[in-house]
Amino acid sequence: MTPMRLYVNIDHVATVRQARRTDEPDPVAAAALCEAAGADGITVHLREDRRHIQDADVEALAGTVTTVLNLELATSEPIVALAERLRPFQATFVPERREEVTTEGGLDLTRRDPRLAAAIARLQAAGVRISLFVDPDPPALDRARELGVPAVELHTGRYARTWRDGPAALEELRTAARHGRGLGLAVHAGHGLTYRNVGSVAALAEVEELNIGHSIVSRALMVGMAQAVAEMAALVRARGA
Ligand code: PXP
Repeated sequence: MTPMRLYVNIDHVATVRQARRTDEPDPVAAAALCEAAGADGITVHLREDRRHIQDADVEALAGTVTTVLNLELATSEPIVALAERLRPFQATFVPERREEVTTEGGLDLTRRDPRLAAAIARLQAAGVRISLFVDPDPPALDRARELGVPAVELHTGRYARTWRDGPAALEELRTAARHGRGLGLAVHAGHGLTYRNVGSVAALAEVEELNIGHSIVSRALMVGMAQAVAEMAALVRARGA
């Protein structure tokens, strides 16, 4: 099995800072600690409401991340323009609603969205690798393929909510991951993954990248970022072994 990549989402380092609108904790320093502890990449979501990560954070991270930067974004013009200028290694398009606590579902690709197609084209022209955050639903993957992107990220939210109740959500992820690979897409996954539930998703052979944030930052409050990342990296790389 190919090794799994762990990208650490550091949004909630910025959440703590924004609680006081001060300058600590610093997401740039956190990213460096994650990388030193074995993260394969750093993920941040620049939301339209700027509730955690700020434009200046993305600017700084674009210059300091030594692994790769994965920028999550919706199709808002100023954010697409920022991504076009900074050229992160990867941009993951996500849906966004202002009132949500976190990203609640995958992109709705059932209707043609000219803004999404245009944003994909702009960032691809800038050399940015594009991933689309989608529900684990084979027709959604078919549409992602039609949009000409190389990668999808499967929303693991339902699995994260229901994994204790039975295998249905895991099987849904497995089917979607196989379907995605069959279409030639790189398959990523994330949302709601924790130290307790990550194992079964890491064991899906078709998945090559996990994006994990809240659980790692939460554990980092207790044991420090280096240990929190190292523990998750060990679980992820074991891949069910
Ligand atoms: N992947 C995507 C597309 C997300 O929007 C998020 C949350 O920002 C994550 C992964 C990480 O989710 P969590 O913080 O629950 O690990």
